Amino acid sequence: MSSSRPRISKAVIPAAGLGTRFLPATKATPKEMLPVVDKPAIQYVVEEAVTAGLSDVLMVTGRNKRPLEDHFDRNYELEEVLRDKGDATKLTRVQESSDLATMHYVRQGDPKGLGHAILCAAPHVGDQPFAVLLGDDLIDPRDPLLARMMAVQEQHGGSVVALMEVEPESIHLYGCAAAAATDEDDVVRVSGLVEKPSAADAPSNLAIIGRYVLDPAVFEVLRKTEPGRGGEIQITDALQTLANEPAIGGPVHGVVFRGRRYDTGDRADYLRAIVRLACEREDLGPDFRAWLRGYVAEEMGG
Ligand code: G1P
Repeated sequence: MSSSRPRISKAVIPAAGLGTRFLPATKATPKEMLPVVDKPAIQYVVEEAVTAGLSDVLMVTGRNKRPLEDHFDRNYELEEVLRDKGDATKLTRVQESSDLATMHYVRQGDPKGLGHAILCAAPHVGDQPFAVLLGDDLIDPRDPLLARMMAVQEQHGGSVVALMEVEPESIHLYGCAAAAATDEDDVVRVSGLVEKPSAADAPSNLAIIGRYVLDPAVFEVLRKTEPGRGGEIQITDALQTLANEPAIGGPVHGVVFRGRRYDTGDRADYLRAIVRLACEREDLGPDFRAWLRGYVAEEMGG
């Protein structure tokens, strides 16, 4: 266990997945670049890391992911055009994504699973706890989760996973935690984890959602973790080892999230995210809500 408990400063965002659920949109465009209102989904995730105080962001990418790097880089030509036009608002919006964080990139090479993607971050992360944010999970910016997880990690050491109660029929889509209550209403002590169990085999209805704060001991465990479900090296399996043997890297806790979360890797949830976030936008919201109310009334009437 890290005895001095250094403060967490680095975020790792695995972004090497193929996004087959969105074909053909993702044939030539990374799924992370699909817009949620007018920002690519991945920008919300980077903003979430930065809001929690993590401005050093490592993205684990793969082939065909160059647009991600371009998005978080300067675009001088575009900036010049907007400056010449005197369009300060758009200029600011363009610059926002490149000024957001210090971005680093590493390629995963072989797609050997989420655990393997996280292992690719080892040289960059070094010997300090770090956060992992999965690009498909969009946490509503008004429901801070990561900051709470970091506070729990600082209190207990070890690793912390984000959990959410789901219906039993959905548990096979997630990693699932066996957990015991603690003194704090939103914190559980995790005793076991299983990747995508059937409803019958699931130890609980607590699903891992894509946020982790990990002790660096996880890297050594990942190096020894055999391929699991789907023939891939699973972070869930490495966390199971850590939960079983706290002497390796401290305990595993879970923060039970009760806020708004969207799975932008799922088409229906992606649409819900767009509608909700558009409704709440100051600029677009009033008109869009009025239209939506009319549309829903029409649907109900028809
Ligand atoms: C991954 C993890 C799984 C977790 C999920 C959260 O699965 O392997 O444990 O519950 O993210 O979104 P994926 O959705 O990449 O298949």
